[in-house]
Amino acid sequence: MNIAVTGGAGFIGSNLCDLLVKKNHNVLCIDNFHDYYSPEKKRQNIRELMQSKLFELCECDVKNAGQLTRVFKQGKVEAVAHLAAVPGVRQSIEKPLPYLNNNIVGTMNVLEAAKECKVKKFVFASSSSVYGDSKKIPFVETDKADSQLSPYAFTKRSGELLCRTYHNLYGLPVVCLRLFTVYGPRNRPDMAVGKFAEMIYREKPLPIYGSTSLERDYTFVADVTAAILAALNSDLGFEVINIGNSRPVPISRIVSLLEAGIGKKAKLENVGFQKGDAKATCADISKAKKLFGYSPSISIEEGIERFVGWYLKSRKTAGKRKWL
Ligand SMILES: NC(=O)c1ccc[n+]([C@@H]2O[C@H](COP(=O)([O-])OP(=O)(O)OC[C@H]3O[C@@H](n4cnc5c(N)ncnc54)[C@H](O)[C@@H]3O)[C@@H](O)[C@H]2O)c1
Repeated sequence: MNIAVTGGAGFIGSNLCDLLVKKNHNVLCIDNFHDYYSPEKKRQNIRELMQSKLFELCECDVKNAGQLTRVFKQGKVEAVAHLAAVPGVRQSIEKPLPYLNNNIVGTMNVLEAAKECKVKKFVFASSSSVYGDSKKIPFVETDKADSQLSPYAFTKRSGELLCRTYHNLYGLPVVCLRLFTVYGPRNRPDMAVGKFAEMIYREKPLPIYGSTSLERDYTFVADVTAAILAALNSDLGFEVINIGNSRPVPISRIVSLLEAGIGKKAKLENVGFQKGDAKATCADISKAKKLFGYSPSISIEEGIERFVGWYLKSRKTAGKRKWL
């Protein structure tokens, strides 16, 4: 299959491209190397992929509708995994406009290009943040999702609604996957696991937002990419599906696993609860299990061990340079 992966040089996107190439698909990676974090890290993510005949990079901004439709047509795109977005709850509160432009206008352009090419499957990377600060645990797809806590979360919910509109209007088959705190090799440096590892390694104070007992449903990146592939291969009309682990882990456990892996003690610094953050997340994953046999297989112990193995190698390459 000819599959376009938007945001294909990012953390989840590059892991997905690896998997798709391994499965013999032709991958058209679309990325503008946004500077939300180091574009150099993103180039590093796809360095090996660039050697593959099955992989093509197109440095294109999803805000550029004309170029997007042209490259989709040229690449005879049959399926789309739309992951391009500016992430980050906290920054979206400080500077909301780029989030609306990249994540909402961008999603609309990708849907338009997909419609023009009559693609057979469209997968949209949504987020657990659409549930807001829901107190009802676990989060189920049928729960209300109309009270987001940040512009970022709002853009993800808007993206889902746009997907639904394109399905209603043009019969575009779309699966929106609500991803729950993804972690693993190539982790985004601004997310807890990546940031904590670097602070522990450099023996710097590690910012704790509120309390170390706050829980998140961490999902290993290989479980997420397997779910995206399953959704690309599925025969569904329009669905919104949770992709998590259904086993929330407190921040204190993440810190102790990272300390053990890196071999240094963390210096915790409580910086207070942050606006926009949910107090706890936990996915009900029975729908994903039922629709395409989703079954996350990596425990937090194994996942953090695999992350630390990658982090220490990548840290060594960075030498004295800042890694974040
Ligand atoms: N990492 C998580 O825990 C998580 C959780 C829920 C949802 N998601 C979603 O999954 C997707 C991937 O997240 P990630 O963690 O890999 O982030 P990432 O920042 O590593 O990847 C996003 C990629 O999109 C690219 N991009 C951004 N704006 C673009 C534009 N206008 N045109 C083309 N490319 C653009 C970036 O350069 C980057 O490579 C995002 O849509 C994110 O919202 C991630």
